[in-house]
Amino acid sequence: MKVTIQSKTGIAEFEADGSSNLLYEGLKRGLGLPYECATGTCGTCRARVMDGNVSLAWDDAPGLAYVKRAKNEVLLCQAHVHGDCVVRVPAKVEPLPEAALPADFTGRIDAVRRLTHDVIHFEVQLDRAMSFAAGQFAALSCEDVTGARAYSMVNHANSTDRLAFVVKRKLGGKFSDWLFETDVNGRTLKLLGPLGRATFRPEEGKNFVCIAGGSGVAGMMAIAQHATRNGYLDTHTGHIFFGVRTMEDCFYTAEFADQVKKAKGNLEVTIALSNEEPPQPTHPDHPEINLASGFVHEVAARQMAGRYDNMVGFVAGPPPMVDGALRMLIMEARLPAEFIRYDKFG
Ligand SMILES: Cc1cc2nc3c(=O)[nH]c(=O)nc-3n(C[C@H](O)[C@H](O)[C@H](O)COP(=O)(O)OP(=O)(O)OC[C@H]3O[C@@H](n4cnc5c(N)ncnc54)[C@H](O)[C@@H]3O)c2cc1C
Ligand code: FES
Repeated sequence: MKVTIQSKTGIAEFEADGSSNLLYEGLKRGLGLPYECATGTCGTCRARVMDGNVSLAWDDAPGLAYVKRAKNEVLLCQAHVHGDCVVRVPAKVEPLPEAALPADFTGRIDAVRRLTHDVIHFEVQLDRAMSFAAGQFAALSCEDVTGARAYSMVNHANSTDRLAFVVKRKLGGKFSDWLFETDVNGRTLKLLGPLGRATFRPEEGKNFVCIAGGSGVAGMMAIAQHATRNGYLDTHTGHIFFGVRTMEDCFYTAEFADQVKKAKGNLEVTIALSNEEPPQPTHPDHPEINLASGFVHEVAARQMAGRYDNMVGFVAGPPPMVDGALRMLIMEARLPAEFIRYDKFG
């Protein structure tokens, strides 16, 4: 099936095989189509069907609030083609670099462990290695749940057949309920990855500040891992702010303490508690980690004031937290847009 994409950069064509939605099919073939969540919530992949038969996989996708359905607009990440079609995308569509192309993988879940009452860690053994940048995510799907879910990789390696993920339980959430209520060890997943542009790029030579709420810390773990492993923090500084409600909600503290030790004074990690006062200024079991009281973006604003020299900012987590942190990085830190990267988890 021939798909023709009209965009601000001209016309591009690719052959779709109908195995997935138009966004995934285009990205896999090297077209830099616009997207953020890749899973139906943000509306960024809005496009207009000019010709052809296109159906939507998820009729209640929240991202459809941003499209004019009467004008034949769709979300590329939910659109399936049933024959040749022409689609107009209101954005620039540049070719993707060969090395960054997402692809389909299958994987088997293992190493499942609960980190707190509502946070679970699991790993996936892939059928072959994936190359990805720290901060990227994959779209995961399983047989028992309809639709794909986006999850950021917690680990980083230039190329690896093992991925680690961390998921916070959402009450009534289908995929997170499946993870928490089923023995998922050994279960098969389909994955599309790597996805996302909120990436750590060592070649930029920037100091970094990461602001994460809850499981938003996944990508920050990957960034810390990449930066400590390749000696980046010998010459740059990193500041990670990780927001949770109470001490009982903290996780990955041993892992972060280990990164701080490896960075020899150039990585600071602060856990911000929004619902209680910390018992002491540093973590009782891991004194390398600072504790503070308040919402994570407010704590970051207090501690980072006047320290934004040559900085790139990463933000991930629930939308209200991300919006607060973005305001702070724009208004107070005055970072240019190209050096503010974020993932909204909703
Ligand atoms: C870039 C990005 C990275 C993320 N990384 C993480 C992470 O590392 N850890 C984490 O805990 N969360 C992460 N999230 C949030 C995660 O993708 C899920 O939204 C969350 O886990 C809740 O999923 P659920 O199935 O439990 O809830 P549900 O309410 O069942 O589903 C939530 C999401 O699943 C998709 N969805 C739901 N129903 C359908 C359907 N019928 N068809 C198609 N799609 C559907 C939509 O994207 C929806 O917003 C990330 C989100 C994004 C956008
Ligand atoms: S990328 Fe399709 S709705 Fe977010």
